[in-house]
Amino acid sequence: MSLTINIYYTGKNGSAKEFVNEMISSGVVDQIRKEEGNKRYEYFFPENDSETVLLIDCWEDQHALDLHHKSPMMEQIAALRSKYHLKMKVEQYTNLVSDNHDFETVIRNRTATRKFKDKNIEPEKINKILEAGRLAPTAKNFQPQKIYVAKSNEALAKIDKVSPCRYNAPVVLIVCSDKNIAWTKDEYSTYEMDACIVATHMMLEATNVGVDNIWIEMFDKKELKHQFELADNMEPICLIPLGYKADDYKGNPLHNKRKELSDIVTFV
Ligand SMILES: Cc1cc2nc3c(=O)[nH]c(=O)nc-3n(C[C@H](O)[C@H](O)[C@H](O)COP(=O)(O)O)c2cc1C
Repeated sequence: MSLTINIYYTGKNGSAKEFVNEMISSGVVDQIRKEEGNKRYEYFFPENDSETVLLIDCWEDQHALDLHHKSPMMEQIAALRSKYHLKMKVEQYTNLVSDNHDFETVIRNRTATRKFKDKNIEPEKINKILEAGRLAPTAKNFQPQKIYVAKSNEALAKIDKVSPCRYNAPVVLIVCSDKNIAWTKDEYSTYEMDACIVATHMMLEATNVGVDNIWIEMFDKKELKHQFELADNMEPICLIPLGYKADDYKGNPLHNKRKELSDIVTFV
């Protein structure tokens, strides 16, 4: 059983958004996410109410929720709520978290990380991430992907030579595609498409296991091939730095700037 709690905070003149910003910048959000039994702790801004923020809070069981209620975080939240004069409405559900919700959490939590802390990634997590890349679909199931895991100081130094975008990550996946293996017809090949799907699988699995990540296109492909002595047919597609975001990383300012569905979808 798990418990989901929806809390609506409503204020005036954007105070609900300021409240959220302070919750994030003061580290309250991160600390609650690390509390035992916390499955989810997120904010959403309802489309038709600019003065309200919805917090979705999910706990493994009543015991985890009780512990949370006794944590020092509660006092901090209450103080911030009164600082911003917010009204609060609470709804609580049990057993509402299905696998689909968890998948949705992953989709919503994935975001570009541009500052990693000096902390290694547990090998079993790296394996899970790589396994997600193995299971990705590819054209005709030809599986042209080849992943190089840059982890040694020497390999990371090579990455730094070819890209400014490692952001101090302790591990970088170099996602490549073998043009000799990928499905090809006339001039057309799916080598890039296949590798992008593989990379997306791995990025989402990384988020799923709590490993922060980013997709990097900005690197010198020719120099990377030279540094890692890749064969001509081995095409580097992207880099995925992996790690744990630095405590003072403020988040990607573009993350919440998504177009409306109506701007990107046409039902025909
Ligand atoms: C194809 C692609 C290439 C990207 N290349 C870079 C890059 O070279 N450097 C970088 O800092 N971020 C890069 N990003 C990260 C995007 O800027 C980021 O995903 C985008 O702003 C959306 O934000 P979000 O990932 O936090 O939702 C890239 C993302 C994609 C999908």
